[in-house]
Order: sequence, then structure tokens, then C-alpha cells
Amino acid sequence: MSLLEVKNVTKRFQGLVANDSVSFTMEEGEIVSLIGPNGAGKTTLFNCIAGYHPVDSGEVLFRGTRITNLRPSAICRAGLARTFQLVKVFTALTTLENVMVGALLHTRDTRTAVKEAFAVLELTGLAPKACFPAAALTIADRKRLEVARALATRPKLLLLDEVMAGLNSSETKEAVDLVRRINGQGVTLLIVEHVMEAIMPISHRILVLDGGQKIAEGSPEVIGNDERVIQAYLGEKYRAKHHRPAG
Ligand SMILES: Nc1ncnc2c1ncn2[C@@H]1O[C@H](COP(=O)(O)OP(=O)(O)OP(=O)(O)O)[C@@H](O)[C@H]1O
Ligand SMILES: [Mg+2]
Repeated sequence: MSLLEVKNVTKRFQGLVANDSVSFTMEEGEIVSLIGPNGAGKTTLFNCIAGYHPVDSGEVLFRGTRITNLRPSAICRAGLARTFQLVKVFTALTTLENVMVGALLHTRDTRTAVKEAFAVLELTGLAPKACFPAAALTIADRKRLEVARALATRPKLLLLDEVMAGLNSSETKEAVDLVRRINGQGVTLLIVEHVMEAIMPISHRILVLDGGQKIAEGSPEVIGNDERVIQAYLGEKYRAKHHRPAG
């Protein structure tokens, strides 16, 4: 049984088909990236999977159970967590308290929540800033906090929406290391990202959306050489930089 099965998911906004009968599966332990141009429907697909948008048709199965159109909190409790492209940290709370919000999804005991939140802060490198007000964190740290809060819900599958956007190269490297550490702890990841240099080396598989449709799926090598993907998204610059002629 696949960990996640997305079957013919369609989502319309009035006349616009943001997701057009999208299907794919994810196996436990994988890192899969979801790429495509702005407006391709990546965030919409996250919203459909995680229960933030009702789908028009199609279904989503998580660990073999239909989760289509369940409430986000129920889906999160089942082990599927996500981050938001526009970070949603609680600025009036400290870093630690933000992460506790995630942990409190599965425990009512505050001491347990503190303990679990600290473990996640250690993993994400935010422990030295545990008592900072979240409002004082840099963008890079806020993105990490967004990941930390989602991790504290103890997901089996984590959806990351552009957690590397706007980071400098050393922050991006740290974010990639964090993705590897999270995956090393047994968490399966679906990652939306535009930073190809960061995701190509860590992805087991890549899905490509364009105009709401899945136009390609395969290993990073296959996707990097796919003519349709180069035309729709990666561009000629990418080809020139990465393509090695045979022989
Ligand atoms: N709540 C909404 N109401 C109406 N239209 C929407 C809504 N959310 C998204 N859309 C539209 O659906 C399409 C897909 O948007 P989406 O945000 O999923 O793209 P994306 O692939 O995440 O793009 P980006 O890379 O810029 O984040 C766009 O045309 C967008 O304007
Ligand atoms: Mg998006």
C-alpha cells in the first residue's frame, strides 16, 4: 500500500482549473519534489491534499484511508502535516510556544508538549532561540520554525511549500541538510520548491505540474532532460548548464 494516493484530483476556481485530474502516489521514506511554473497549481494541490480546499472531484488516500475533504486538523492528526508558502508563525508567541502548538495536537499535557517541542527545536537548530519572540526571528528562522511546528505534530508525511524561497546559499544548504535529517528520521516528504540546485540532488522522484496538469514524473535525471519540462519550466539556461552531451 502506498503512503499517499492522489487520484484524479480536480480543483476549480470559477472558470479556472487549478488542478486538472492530477494523480500520483508516494511510498514511505521517499523525498518527492513537486515543481512547475508560478500558478501551475502546486500550492492548490497541497491545499486539496491537506484539507484546506474542498476538491471538485477525485480522491486522496493516506495510509489506505480516504481523507478527501476531511478537516485539516483531522488530516494532520492522521499524520499528514504541511507548511505554508506564506509563513504563518504566531508572532506574539515565543519560538518554543509556536512549536508547542504543533505538539499540543496530540497531547494535552503541557510538560510533554514542552519536551517534544525542545526535541524538534534541537533537530531544526532553533534551540538557542527557543525563548525569542517569533517576531524577532529572521526569515530563514521563521521558515525553519514553520517546519518545526509541522514536525511537532509527528507527521508520517510532511508537505513543504517553498521553505527555501528567499534564503541565501548557506541558509539553503542548511535547509537541505534539515530535509535530509527529517527524512532520516523516517518522515516522507513532498516538497514544492523553485530552487532546482537544492532539490535535484535530494529528490528520489520529481513531479511536474503545468497549467494544473501533471506533465511529467520521474527521476531528477529524467526530469532534467525532459523536453516538455525544459520548455514549460526549467528553461534553456538550465539545459545549457546541466546537459552533458553523450560521448
Ligand atoms: N483561493 C483561490 N481563489 C481563486 N484562484 C486561486 C486561489 N488559489 C489559487 N488560485 C489560482 O489557481 C492557480 C494556481 O495557483 P497556485 O497558488 O496553486 O500555484 P503555484 O503553483 O503554487 O504557484 P507559485 O509557484 O507562484 O506558488 C493560479 O492561477 C491562482 O491564481
Ligand atoms: Mg505556490
